Amino acid sequence: MNGGGPVPRRMVPPVALSRAFARPSTESSRNRCLATFGPAHPIVRAADDATLLRVSADSELPQCAKWLPRATFAGQVALITGGGTGLGLQISRGLAALGATVVIASRTAAHHVAFLDESRARGWKADSLVVDVREAPLVHTAVESVIAKHGTVDILVNNAAGNFVCPAERLSANAWRAVLGIVLDGTFYCSREVGKHMIARGTGRILNIVATYAWTGMPGVVHSASAKAGVLAMTRTLAAEWARHGLRVNAVAPGPFESDGARENLWPDDTVKRAIEERIPLRRFATADEVAAQCLWLLSPACDYVTGECLVIDGGASVGGHMWESGARSSRRRKDAAT
Ligand code: COA
Repeated sequence: MNGGGPVPRRMVPPVALSRAFARPSTESSRNRCLATFGPAHPIVRAADDATLLRVSADSELPQCAKWLPRATFAGQVALITGGGTGLGLQISRGLAALGATVVIASRTAAHHVAFLDESRARGWKADSLVVDVREAPLVHTAVESVIAKHGTVDILVNNAAGNFVCPAERLSANAWRAVLGIVLDGTFYCSREVGKHMIARGTGRILNIVATYAWTGMPGVVHSASAKAGVLAMTRTLAAEWARHGLRVNAVAPGPFESDGARENLWPDDTVKRAIEERIPLRRFATADEVAAQCLWLLSPACDYVTGECLVIDGGASVGGHMWESGARSSRRRKDAAT
């Protein structure tokens, strides 16, 4: 059900490309990319840089990073808001494992520790900063400091979010402002500050995290649904506005997926979770890793011609979940006509 709202266009999943990149070794992966894209394509040049990376074996890669060449993001700087927890953490790990310098940004320094520790252990290039994305001047300073320290921002992932279930009639103005501030204002402030810099360079990628309820609606999360709908409109608008400057702006819209934050805030009860799963054609929630894999794909050069897109990752929930009942009536008609 799409509630009559605009239905995001669906992309063909990257099956063919994943197969092309499934690799027993970096060399054969590079050759497959070469055959697919030709020698000048950035993804091939990135594969050529694979030896620069210190992560040594496929088994050490985060799951989400296994579908793309090892150096897909080598030499690039990525800024991930909310990049230390949940989906943001998986995206950060994937980008870092594939060669990016990853800067995670959020309000709580304690949330940065896990990613920074893992990065140290694995030899990934990582950094963090504390910022409240609701405050435009703080975002300005934060982005300036990332550029001063790391030289540039090639990739921005607007992942920071706040959410909880609350009936609309009981939602306080402050609670509404808190979620709209993080999700809608924060996405705009970060996009504007990083966007200015990307426009000056003539290149850059921005990825926003929305949710399927941005167009279906969902009881109990009017604040989050309204904010995500705004971010979806922002994605399409900025994609159209900034394409001429060489920027790509896309979104992903996950259905429910496993994360500590979501479990605590959205389905503390397993009965609720099972009831939601019943309505998903694939009969399960996604893992954060599966969602992150699609984020990496959209950010990769494989999607250089994709902008203004919203990739739905919901196990088929938004296209309906029920089979017709065995077609009994129409087969009876055929039988009647034959006799
Ligand atoms: N139900 C109803 N109102 C809630 C609420 C809940 N579960 N959680 C927060 N609020 C209200 C607060 O009562 C307050 O409103 P009030 O001043 O009228 O009482 C307002 O929201 C701001 O809350 P506060 O916690 O002070 O703001 P914050 O800016 O520090 O944090 C959130 C806001 C949404 C980020 C915070 O509630 C939070 O940490 N949520 C869990 C993390 C999360 O959302 N993860 C993503 C999961 S998908």
